[in-house]
Amino acid sequence: MQQPKQAKWVRGYCETVGDLLTHEKVQQMRQYPHHKPIDTLYHSVYVSFMTYRICEKLHLRTREATRAALLHDFYLYNWYTDKHDEGHAWYHPKEAVKNAELYFGDLTPLQRDMILSHMWPLHLMPPRSREGLALTLADKVGAVRDFLRLSKRFRPVYTCIETEMKHYARPAASR
Ligand SMILES: [Fe+2]
Ligand SMILES: [Fe+2]
Repeated sequence: MQQPKQAKWVRGYCETVGDLLTHEKVQQMRQYPHHKPIDTLYHSVYVSFMTYRICEKLHLRTREATRAALLHDFYLYNWYTDKHDEGHAWYHPKEAVKNAELYFGDLTPLQRDMILSHMWPLHLMPPRSREGLALTLADKVGAVRDFLRLSKRFRPVYTCIETEMKHYARPAASR
């Protein structure tokens, strides 16, 4: 089978997030719709893979940023049915930080800021780093692709990542 063009980035990406991606709580994101019919794990892998590529190309803090990007929507509920006092757009970044720290230990200040500000400019809290801007951009591109029903184009890369992940089933490491 022909490999997708982006396949050359898959190994490095999996080495960066493999321990997180194989964790049962991260896998649980499959259960929750993001923009129907896309699930939250598929979206998060797309966004973090794009963040990884941007950070590698621009020589940014790739590891920290890619791991934060994978967890940026780690809210673990169905936002179509589970309601909170605040609207989902405002509530879920805080829930993602809380879950990330509950299951994987303290985030770095960079990671925390990236996750909390990823809804900018809807939120009035812009990211304070180029890594955060990369995440925000990747998230918006992902949302537009979901809206235009183009997200399935990422499926061949996603399948490569799933195949590669079989080598990375080990406990989560530090940030
Ligand atoms: Fe989000
Ligand atoms: Fe997102």
